[in-house]
Amino acid sequence: MVALALFSVSCGHDMREPIRADRKNPTKYVWQLPEGFPLPRVPADNPITAEKVELGRLLFHDTRLSGDGTVSCASCHQPERAYTDGRSRAVGIRGNVHPRSAMSLTNVAYNATLGWDDPALKLLEDQALVPLLNRHPPEMGVAGREQEVLARLKKSRRYRRLFFKSFPEDSSPVTLRNVTYALASFERTLIAGNSPYDRWAYGGQIDALNKNQRAGARLFFSQRLGCFRCHAGFNLSGPVVYEGSDEMQARFHNTGLYNEDGSGAYPAPNTGVHRHTGRSADMGKFRAPTLRNIALTAPYMHDGSIPTLEAVLDHYAAGGRARYLHSDISNLEADSMTDPLLRGFELAPEERSQLVAFLQALTDESFVRNALEQSSEQGRNR
Ligand code: HEC
Ligand code: HEC
Repeated sequence: MVALALFSVSCGHDMREPIRADRKNPTKYVWQLPEGFPLPRVPADNPITAEKVELGRLLFHDTRLSGDGTVSCASCHQPERAYTDGRSRAVGIRGNVHPRSAMSLTNVAYNATLGWDDPALKLLEDQALVPLLNRHPPEMGVAGREQEVLARLKKSRRYRRLFFKSFPEDSSPVTLRNVTYALASFERTLIAGNSPYDRWAYGGQIDALNKNQRAGARLFFSQRLGCFRCHAGFNLSGPVVYEGSDEMQARFHNTGLYNEDGSGAYPAPNTGVHRHTGRSADMGKFRAPTLRNIALTAPYMHDGSIPTLEAVLDHYAAGGRARYLHSDISNLEADSMTDPLLRGFELAPEERSQLVAFLQALTDESFVRNALEQSSEQGRNR
């Protein structure tokens, strides 16, 4: 309240000194990390503060951030669905359909690369420009309307105050760069690590998982199924980075979803890493996403082409559905670009439901509850 009072006095008057002093002392952001989770890596030029996180949360949920004021980040990344949208393909302004599915933002701070298939996109600050400025298709449609969107934000006293407090070094802080810096700061705080699985594996609560779920965990971590080889580590995901970690080599896999031409082609434009490199060896390669909160994020895969967890398991059991879709059964091994780690396996109906029960035990209910509380609080404060 003190800060607010000082700032409002400052508008148009000459009370600069005390405000500057206050602005120079942003509030430290206190991480609340689950047991065993490493400290997220934060870029040196965007230190995380409580003000930036709050600003980022507001911006994330605000449709004023789109060109025509209809779409926010949260339209496609809804808190109650672990920041996905329940669609197989995301929909931006004026009903524009994106070729791929919105990704969960669960533990996004740790991902070594961002997006389904981009080896070069590593910083949340950079990623935020993609939905804002993308023209093919327009997601939020800010390209060409940047000044209009910023002017909308400048009109709000709450935003003016928060931008000033978040970027004390800038004399006019309401900029697109600072929008992305605040969004990135907020996204880094979306950390989930309080699922029944965590209580069982790390919290010493033997009964946090029931018998079925424990059997499912054994299957997940078995050599026979090998899920853990790609969905690995504390985040059950592809490579992670954190404060003090080594640089991680990005990893992408072809999971045998498509084989259009007998040589493993994926339907354009969703050809995976190939889309960025043009190399045929990169055809159909995508990042293995985290499986935390996976029960909340159907439908599955980069194009939402698998509706349920049961169907995902059938896909893996078959060693990739492209193998059984392809007509020339005799030639399958030679044709397939599918990752050799996906050999397929027999899965009894009982085992299938155990594995689904395990995947459901990866949901962190408090993550969703907190997100919803914060976004409704935000609605009240507007
Ligand atoms: C039209 C729907 C839509 C909107 C609006 C949208 N996104 Fe996304 N988001 C997506 C899709 C689709 C992907 C996957 C893109 C890809 O890799 O092909 C994605 C991916 C991401 C990722 C990568 C996650 C990961 O695990 O790598 C982040 C981070 C992200 N979005 C943040 C944002 C932010 C911040 C905003 C607002 C500025 C936003 N998104 C607005 C649809 C949307
Ligand atoms: C060879 C590496 C690899 C192995 C082994 C693997 N996965 Fe995956 N998984 C991936 C990749 C890559 C994707 C994304 C594929 C895409 O969208 O094209 C994925 C996607 C998924 C998804 C959907 C994620 C989402 O957000 O839509 C689920 C669920 C899943 N895997 C579960 C499993 C289970 C269960 C196993 C074991 C039976 C397993 N995976 C084995 C690499 C792997």
